[in-house]
Amino acid sequence: MINWSMGQVVEVARVGAEIYSVWISERKISRKVKPGQFIGVKVPERDDLLLRRPFSVADVKGGKMRIVFRVVGAGTAKLAHSKKGDRWDIIGPLGKPAPLVQNKSVVVCGGGVGAAPLFYLTRVLKEKNRVVAVLGARRAAELVMVSEFRQLGVKVYLTTEDGSKGIRGLVTEALEPVIKVMEKPVVYACGPEGMLKALCPLSRKAKVWAFFEERMGCGTGVCYGCALPKKDGGYLRLCQDGPVVSLDEVVL
Ligand SMILES: Cc1cc2nc3c(=O)[nH]c(=O)nc-3n(C[C@H](O)[C@H](O)[C@H](O)COP(=O)(O)OP(=O)(O)OC[C@H]3O[C@@H](n4cnc5c(N)ncnc54)[C@H](O)[C@@H]3O)c2cc1C
Ligand code: FES
Repeated sequence: MINWSMGQVVEVARVGAEIYSVWISERKISRKVKPGQFIGVKVPERDDLLLRRPFSVADVKGGKMRIVFRVVGAGTAKLAHSKKGDRWDIIGPLGKPAPLVQNKSVVVCGGGVGAAPLFYLTRVLKEKNRVVAVLGARRAAELVMVSEFRQLGVKVYLTTEDGSKGIRGLVTEALEPVIKVMEKPVVYACGPEGMLKALCPLSRKAKVWAFFEERMGCGTGVCYGCALPKKDGGYLRLCQDGPVVSLDEVVL
């Protein structure tokens, strides 16, 4: 069941270039939300921005949940200017939880702010799996939550396109040698659709669960604004059937 709730902002921090972390105190949704699910936030004082903005939950702790987001437009700019004590109108949990595995070699692969939802997932998966993280961004200032991933005790490989931190190149290129030495790896990937597309060849050799965060309208199954074609015909709705989808099932 989808809950509606007024959450209270308890912490806002700039954690990278135009990237913000917000902790929200909210009991109903934070108790239920699982890794891979997202919330819909109404942008405060902006009735012209009709659609709720979707954000994956990056972590939960004692009646609080965290989102980490990049400022790309009017909605995220307004949310980034939130202050402690502000109240946010939220619905959730939305979407399906990411499928979890046990006793596997797992790689989480995050492109830019796509690392955020993988953090909550990694915290849960590392209890029953061997997990490594491959995190990439265009430049060092866009890598997020690196020290937090390390604090979880997982090995972290870093890449940047400009070589300012870690291996120079694309995160998808850095992923290949990491996977090669693993037996039957399971990959969870979150990033721009171009990155997910680059992982399609890999999905023939390994199970790849992809987080799709670029298509969304109503977020609740009504508008089909999130439709993604399936290989075996028809469409899936990312807000209902995703946003975490097996990459070998869809056409990109
Ligand atoms: C399931 C889901 C989970 C998400 N989780 C996160 C998250 O954890 N952190 C985060 O930073 N973002 C996340 N997003 C993306 C986020 O919802 C959008 O960036 C946000 O809604 C943009 O709102 P805006 O008003 O600032 O920008 P708008 O004014 O709506 O758009 C400004 C510009 O950004 C582009 N844009 C808008 N939405 C997206 C998008 N989804 N992806 C790429 N470009 C977009 C537009 O094409 C336009 O060029 C998620 C999206 C989905 C669907
Ligand atoms: S976003 Fe409207 S149906 Fe999925």
